[in-house]
Amino acid sequence: MKQTMIKGTGRYVPPRVVTNHDLTQWMDTSDEWIRQRTGIEERRWVSAEGGIGPSDLGLQASKIALNRAEWTHEDVDLIIFATLSPDIYFPGSGCLLQHKLGLDSTPALDIRQQCTGFIYGLTLADAFIRSGHANRILLVGAEVQSTAIDLSTRGRDIAVLFGDGAGAACLEGVETAEAAGVLASALHAQGEFANILMMELPSHKLNPIITEEMVRAGRHYPFMDGRTVFKTAVRKLAQVTKEVLKKANLTVEDIDFFIPHQANLRINQAFAKLLNLPEEKVINNIQRYGNTTAASIPIALDEAIERQCIQSKSTVLFLALGAGLTWGAVVYRFL
Ligand code: ACO
Repeated sequence: MKQTMIKGTGRYVPPRVVTNHDLTQWMDTSDEWIRQRTGIEERRWVSAEGGIGPSDLGLQASKIALNRAEWTHEDVDLIIFATLSPDIYFPGSGCLLQHKLGLDSTPALDIRQQCTGFIYGLTLADAFIRSGHANRILLVGAEVQSTAIDLSTRGRDIAVLFGDGAGAACLEGVETAEAAGVLASALHAQGEFANILMMELPSHKLNPIITEEMVRAGRHYPFMDGRTVFKTAVRKLAQVTKEVLKKANLTVEDIDFFIPHQANLRINQAFAKLLNLPEEKVINNIQRYGNTTAASIPIALDEAIERQCIQSKSTVLFLALGAGLTWGAVVYRFL
């Protein structure tokens, strides 16, 4: 039977490091407040001069992933691009990446599941592969968020959280009798809570449907009811973990590593406590990158593979909750 296998991963973050201390030049905040509440010490932002979009960061991550998978770009028969911060309003960043990779007519699909983008993307790729619609899929999560956040004190609850970056994975359908690859997944969405984490207006430039009053009110910046997101995330992440484990017929003890979305270190710690998980099984890197939304899981995965903590036969559980609300989890076993 065909199983969806990760053949190669890659990550790219821009070289510009922005520390918590750096943020104090724009807003009333402190290193202590940010570390205590979120665990974040620094994040990467693209150059303030602009002109760099998620498809550019995604291109760098994709090149590394393609190289490690030993694919050429022509081997890709579908691109899935997860982002909440597309380069332009339309067309999608997947099309821009396709062209930057030098591809001619390879299909490209953008998905808008925010922090849950990699989970939805992996599940979608698995469905394409199992149904025979594609066999080699490039899944990319990439964000440039730093150019669209409110750097004044008004926006400090959000501005301190987000970072820019990209992660990519080459996914291939492989015939194997082993219980490996994507073993189970669980996806959810609840539009009822769209307004607790959202960006209301489509662009930061004035256009006829966006009034000056709306812009003065900051409705072109992300909004977040942080406390509700926090509490909901801990509860739903624990629930969806149990759900996907049941589907895979596995227990918490069968999982070698949990790779959660990096929204807040405290969320991941509370989730781990609720399920009684040993700290070393939960992979966190938010301290160095902040919240890179759709890029956070593939970046953490790529680092874990590079550090060789993930090895042959490792069973990993990816999980995320983000705007939508959307949340989900995937159980994956390496060959
Ligand atoms: N620096 C200093 N003070 C700040 C900052 C800041 N960056 N941001 C807010 N404050 C102030 C507030 O104004 C408030 O002041 P007040 O008491 O005088 O009104 C005070 O700090 C407490 O603010 P709260 O919002 O209540 O702080 P809280 O302890 O809830 O922490 C946080 C805020 C970190 C955002 C938290 O709610 C959280 O982590 N929520 C989860 C949401 C999340 O992680 N989102 C990431 C994106 S979504 C996703 O990926 C799932």
